[in-house]
Amino acid sequence: MEYRIPKRYTITAALPYANGPLHIGHLAGAYLPSDIYVRYLRLQRRDVVFICGSDEHGAAITLRAKKEGITPQEIIEKYHTLNSRAFADFGISFDIFHRTSAPLHYDTAQAFFLQLEENGAFEIEESEQFYDEQFGQFLADRYVTGMCPKCGAAGAYGDQCEKCGSSLNPTDLIDPISTLSGTTPVKRKTQHWYLPMHNHQAWVEEWITSGRFKDIASPVVPHDASAWKQHVRGQCLSWIRDGLKSRAMTRDLDWGVPVPLPNSDGKVLYVWLDAPIGYISATRQWAKDHNKDWSLYWQDPNTRLIHFIGKDNIVFHCIIFPILLKAHGGFILPDNVPANEFLNLEGDKISTSRNHAVWLHEYLEDLPCRKDELRYVLTSISPENADSEFTWKDYQTRINSELVAILGNFVNRVWVLYHKYYNGLIQGSGDQISFHDVDLKDMVEKTYDSISQHIEQFRFRQALFEVMDLARLGNRFLTEKEPWKKQSIAPVESAHALTDCLLLTAHLGRLLQPFMPDTSKRIFGMLSDEISQLFWDEPIILKPGSQINNPILLFEKMEDDQITKQIEKLQQANQVKAEPISSTMAPLKSEVVYDDFARMDIRVGTIKEAVRVPKADKLLQITIDTGLDVRTVVSGIAEHYKPEEIIGKQVVLLVNLASRKLRGIESQGMILMAKDLQGKLYFISPEQMIDPGSDVS
Ligand code: 2FM
Ligand code: ZN
Repeated sequence: MEYRIPKRYTITAALPYANGPLHIGHLAGAYLPSDIYVRYLRLQRRDVVFICGSDEHGAAITLRAKKEGITPQEIIEKYHTLNSRAFADFGISFDIFHRTSAPLHYDTAQAFFLQLEENGAFEIEESEQFYDEQFGQFLADRYVTGMCPKCGAAGAYGDQCEKCGSSLNPTDLIDPISTLSGTTPVKRKTQHWYLPMHNHQAWVEEWITSGRFKDIASPVVPHDASAWKQHVRGQCLSWIRDGLKSRAMTRDLDWGVPVPLPNSDGKVLYVWLDAPIGYISATRQWAKDHNKDWSLYWQDPNTRLIHFIGKDNIVFHCIIFPILLKAHGGFILPDNVPANEFLNLEGDKISTSRNHAVWLHEYLEDLPCRKDELRYVLTSISPENADSEFTWKDYQTRINSELVAILGNFVNRVWVLYHKYYNGLIQGSGDQISFHDVDLKDMVEKTYDSISQHIEQFRFRQALFEVMDLARLGNRFLTEKEPWKKQSIAPVESAHALTDCLLLTAHLGRLLQPFMPDTSKRIFGMLSDEISQLFWDEPIILKPGSQINNPILLFEKMEDDQITKQIEKLQQANQVKAEPISSTMAPLKSEVVYDDFARMDIRVGTIKEAVRVPKADKLLQITIDTGLDVRTVVSGIAEHYKPEEIIGKQVVLLVNLASRKLRGIESQGMILMAKDLQGKLYFISPEQMIDPGSDVS
């Protein structure tokens, strides 16, 4: 496809949930690549807006608030502030970091919804959803946990199993439990707005595979489908081939953007509708603040829309959001969605719940002034096409053997020699210096071309590698020319060589701007008081006879003890469950009075018999002597205990629980079990054999 420079760019980075701090996985996944890309586009003088903000809705936020005993408002204030600061600290140069709690967002999202409704984009369907009778509310997504029907893991959420990654419906869960009350929810009918995605199957498939689709309605322009990453296309195609299904775009929740229609109390827009419209509302706010026309950035066919996200949001941005945009009408579709895969940490997945992470706000406290070093390392190992791994040892090696030994060393050698031989006065004649060595000049020009190509095609790792290669070349050039040996015998040649090196440092400064903006500034600062940034096409003006500033060390060696401290910190964090929210830890339930507890009749019983329930992998049919009677209980422990292991065991039993039928068997009571954080079940038993029927209180 012919390469055409678009008139403007709208670049979005996934809106992070304001329910927790950011870690290096976030930075490597979406924010650093988007920032590199945007900084590059700006240096090319392109018209670009870089959009992000906090996603302040969703069950994860209200649940966290409940667990911490504070309001959702307090949670979002805390994390919106913390995360905005972290982005700023790492130089992520958003044009706006908005928030979905802003009134402008509510207006935008509700208007968008109404237009979809008017266009007949939704189907209203009634379905059965879980309802917590004690709390009197429907249980959306994370409000229900249970066993994953796909992999059997305990503690899967209603919207997703974190163990196997399957996306779920709450009603798919086995043995569902309300995270509000800890009780088994009941099913109740409720009405929601569904997006019948199957109606869009044909054009979506054509658009993903070829970049275009028939009956193309303005303003959608074809994109270059071959420019999409393989893993992105692969994930989309696997969804498409499974058949697109109808999905609910609303939820029963009291936190979010309300459905703007009569008789829809307690219904809010789901994240698929809410968060990406957050990109649009953020653009509107930015346009207001800067006297621009937001619609050009979303509706003009000469605009290129690019979404930077992690791989968990691929289908959302490549299928669901494009369907919504097209169904609304008037919007362009994304030109590319260069999603990254995941970054692992020290041989394990990054995990918020296990505190296995390098948190951005802590990194700079522990390693002050090492911001560009992290940007460098994360770009070097960017999970562009496959998962990759961050280790502290590798971080140290990359700093010491690349940044210090190659880049820092080259710049420093040049500076020291220039001051030593010329007192820092730029040698030459005319208005500005230029390369004397044609090969070097040639290499520099080629590097610009290839870095541009890599960046335009989202290969940031390779682009950064090429910048470093230029620094390597500089070191080799200096070593070959040996100006320190030839000062007296060939002073002109030596001056040419050292001045070429000086000019090369300026080019390195320019090329590094998208990746390591502070390092670039420091290089520019050493060269001249007049340069603070350099556009890609701007002449580098270094005047003969002018004075360069004193050298400063660009990078400091990373010592072993600093690295050891970080490794130990991670190991300690792994031992302590520091985060109050664990994927499997049951939340604190609401207060009960003593009478609530006293109504429960809990006794010790002895297991007499146990057999598997046919065709139910998880259930055992257990006969128990309760002291009062001998009764049958059906219990979901078959994956943890074999029937023969438990005969004779004493257990604790809720005996006055209303009996219910499970797989056709009447279950009279419930055995109390302890579940550890990995989801394994254990009996609670008296320390020694006691009489069946003994009361537990
Ligand atoms: O998955 C998430 O983190 C959500 N906050 C949605 C991010 S993508 C979006 F902003 F569209
Ligand atoms: Zn699973």
